[in-house]
Amino acid sequence: MSFDGQVAIVTGGAGGFGEAIAEELYNRGAFVYIFDYNLDGATKVAQRLNPGKVFPVQMDLSKVEEIEKAVNMVIGKSNRIDILVNNAGTSAGKPAVDVTEDDWDKIMNLNVKGTFFLTKFVGKQMIDNGGGKIVNVASVNALVAENNTVVYSTSKGAVASITKLLAREWARYGVRVNAIAPCYGRTPLTEVLFQDEKIYNGIIKGIPARRLVTPEEVAEAVTFLLSDKMKIVTGVVMPLDGARST
Ligand SMILES: NC(=O)c1ccc[n+]([C@@H]2O[C@H](COP(=O)([O-])OP(=O)(O)OC[C@H]3O[C@@H](n4cnc5c(N)ncnc54)[C@H](O)[C@@H]3O)[C@@H](O)[C@H]2O)c1
Repeated sequence: MSFDGQVAIVTGGAGGFGEAIAEELYNRGAFVYIFDYNLDGATKVAQRLNPGKVFPVQMDLSKVEEIEKAVNMVIGKSNRIDILVNNAGTSAGKPAVDVTEDDWDKIMNLNVKGTFFLTKFVGKQMIDNGGGKIVNVASVNALVAENNTVVYSTSKGAVASITKLLAREWARYGVRVNAIAPCYGRTPLTEVLFQDEKIYNGIIKGIPARRLVTPEEVAEAVTFLLSDKMKIVTGVVMPLDGARST
């Protein structure tokens, strides 16, 4: 599937899953704006791929005014947005009784508020343009329970709900909204878990396929859902989890 000449925004593309997604979209012909607060990381990705087609945009996705400004900048520069991948997200593993208001706000502001408002601003522009494609990176934690993840899992449940609600509301405008729900993968977010052999083995044991998802598989799934050959597919939350959620 080619995305030749299409304009894409990928959030959190400075590393991890987002970098693999940005790379795959660039390889398939898209212009890619990386929205990330890590400017150094996003710039390195842009320079590695092609600074003429991949653009770092430093901003904080938990701040609505920064989101609106960044979207307006993309429209001012490229005139349109065809693809949005809401990938940036964060977590804090701790028992429910230890969760603080700060934990709640940090995770919810990025994972839920940021995802919703970026989707709102981009979706409005896609509706005006006659269509577009959005993929949200949720998590298998949106589908099944895991101890010590109450805020993260709640946020990803909300991302799954946003996906279904907006898919339904915007289907008539040709704007498709889907999500992926990956199990654990090895990224800067999770690296600390994988330093501990006991935790690593516990994670692998919980996945029937006995392996992690790779960033390349995440990127491939995102492009599948973005494909213009899959126009009937909208409102789907697709597990990438080696049967963890079955
Ligand atoms: N890694 C996993 O095991 C796993 C599993 C399931 C789902 N996910 C989800 O996949 C997505 C990507 O995860 P990852 O593991 O690649 O994460 P990561 O921490 O490696 O990368 C996240 C990126 O988002 C950026 N970012 C964080 N907060 C930001 C903010 N407020 N404003 C702008 N940018 C911000 C970071 O700078 C970073 O580049 C997340 O939504 C995560 O919840 C990850």
